[in-house]
Amino acid sequence: MQRFYLLLILWIYAAESLPCVPRDFGNGGTVCVCNATYCDSTRELEIPEKGSFVRYTSSKDGLRLDPTKGAFTNESATADVTLHLDLHTTFQSIHGFGGAFTDAAGINIKSLRNATAEYILRSYFSEEGSRYNLGRVPIAGSDFSTREYTYDDYKGDTQLQNFSLTEDDLKYKIPMMQEALRMNPDLKFLAASWTAPPWMKTNNAYTGFGFLREEYYQVYAEYIVKFMDLYKGYGLDMWAMSTGNEPSNGIIPVTGFNSMGWTPSGMGKWVANNLGPTISRSKHKDTVILAYDDQTFGLPWYVSDMFSNKVAKNYTAGIAFHWYWDNIVPSWVIDRTRYHFPEKFLIMTEASVGDKPWQFKKVDLGAWSRGEMYITDIMENLQHWVTGWVDWNLALDQQGGPNWKRNFVDAAIIVNAKNDEFYKQPMFYALAHFSKFIPRKSVRVKLSQEGSSINSVAFKTPQNRIVIVLYNPLTKKQHAVIRDQERGNIDLQLPPKSIHTIVYK
Ligand SMILES: *[C@@H]1O[C@H](CO)[C@@H](O)[C@H](O)[C@H]1NC(C)=O
Ligand SMILES: *[C@@H]1O[C@H](CO)[C@@H](O)[C@H](O)[C@H]1NC(C)=O
Ligand SMILES: *[C@@H]1O[C@H](CO)[C@@H](O)[C@H](O)[C@H]1NC(C)=O
Ligand SMILES: *[C@@H]1O[C@H](CO)[C@@H](O)[C@H](O)[C@H]1NC(C)=O
Ligand SMILES: *[C@@H]1O[C@H](CO)[C@@H](O)[C@H](O)[C@H]1NC(C)=O
Repeated sequence: MQRFYLLLILWIYAAESLPCVPRDFGNGGTVCVCNATYCDSTRELEIPEKGSFVRYTSSKDGLRLDPTKGAFTNESATADVTLHLDLHTTFQSIHGFGGAFTDAAGINIKSLRNATAEYILRSYFSEEGSRYNLGRVPIAGSDFSTREYTYDDYKGDTQLQNFSLTEDDLKYKIPMMQEALRMNPDLKFLAASWTAPPWMKTNNAYTGFGFLREEYYQVYAEYIVKFMDLYKGYGLDMWAMSTGNEPSNGIIPVTGFNSMGWTPSGMGKWVANNLGPTISRSKHKDTVILAYDDQTFGLPWYVSDMFSNKVAKNYTAGIAFHWYWDNIVPSWVIDRTRYHFPEKFLIMTEASVGDKPWQFKKVDLGAWSRGEMYITDIMENLQHWVTGWVDWNLALDQQGGPNWKRNFVDAAIIVNAKNDEFYKQPMFYALAHFSKFIPRKSVRVKLSQEGSSINSVAFKTPQNRIVIVLYNPLTKKQHAVIRDQERGNIDLQLPPKSIHTIVYK
């Protein structure tokens, strides 16, 4: 009998999209509710013949990836905004979009019944979900763990004889990553350590002002590689390795959670003499190194300083940064970074809302304004050479945790274990409008705009599709026309506060 229902569910999956079941928590927007037997999903519509396009719309009013078909026209209507597509002017190539496999995410996903948990992973990684192709993995504990720990908390264990993974890896992170990888074989992982074991550090603590002691530079590089060895044993290879999460927190210790400071020259020295050579000699020689992994306000000077070490620069493939101060840090710092180091790709590796003291609601269920923050930042990043955008925790509880430091924040999916259900927030759909339609190796193309009342960005995919994302941030509807010299015009009405992904061949 059970098998029959399973087959029925699989058949429904294969057959059609399932609509959102909305719920309004009174925060200016809605969530979509999923449980063990139901979750909304979006099958891509067949892309019609030349001369027509498909559009997916989400809006504050409650549309969620709602598909409609349309036809090109050659009539020239006057619009509020006119956009000109130029396929011959190209920019960066895309690595992808994703979220983080934190201990907290694993604990929350496992707190649900198996069928419900599966729906979370399907929502993010499957074909009918968001098709995330990047997953960030903390190496041992972060603040989104239930306690402070590293993989070797044995003072003086310089041979790393007692190095071991924990229950958090074996019970939560690894099974979840394996399942996600089965759903999307194209999924790539990027790892980051929050701190070395305290005994390797100047302050002998997980938190606060402290640096790696130079005598342990090599031991710590081996610690990182050992993590990769053990995860590889579970079929989980790391595509990229960060130099460490937010080194500024170990220099200006205001956050109070797991962190380790690096000066730019210290980081350069460690990458050049230890991390780079140790990874190159290991079976993970294809794993690329991402430098920095910290707030945009340190760009570009931090990496410029670090890269004065030419060997460190040579070992570094990309520059990672976080979104937290994007409201006050102008995007030209990213452009400057790109200008100085055009051969290093840029990637945004952590974003969440609710971290600021003035954001009283850590979790603000259904708030469209938070989805809008994601949309705006992703668009702006993509317009400034950024090749990937990775959300923070894949799932949190209704408090915005667990987090041992009580540094609670919001997440795209919030879990309610008591009712065995979860809530897909506007942030979830904000990301899906990009992640689902812009596959790896898509190239951004020029889309110039007359009028500035909407946000827009365009791509050409490896399958030769054009993907255009538009956001109308106004509280009134707008009329937009996209002009494609070869195919004609796309004439669109954009409802208030709505995001649109337009796809055509
Ligand atoms: C799950 O959600 C569906 C759709 O909203 C609903 O019909 C069903 O009753 C829910 N199941 C439970 C156990 O709440
Ligand atoms: C619009 O005009 C272009 C160029 O003349 C033509 O190639 C295209 O097929 C036309 N599109 C439509 C929808 O009529
Ligand atoms: C659900 O159960 C199956 C079979 O035991 C297992 O392979 C899968 O990982 C479980 N899914 C989740 C999300 O825990
Ligand atoms: C490893 O752990 C064991 C058991 O806790 C302990 O007795 C031993 O001293 C540790 N070894 C090192 C090198 O720390
Ligand atoms: C940079 O890396 C390449 C390839 O690994 C190597 O041949 C070259 O010597 C390196 N240059 C420096 C300055 O380290």
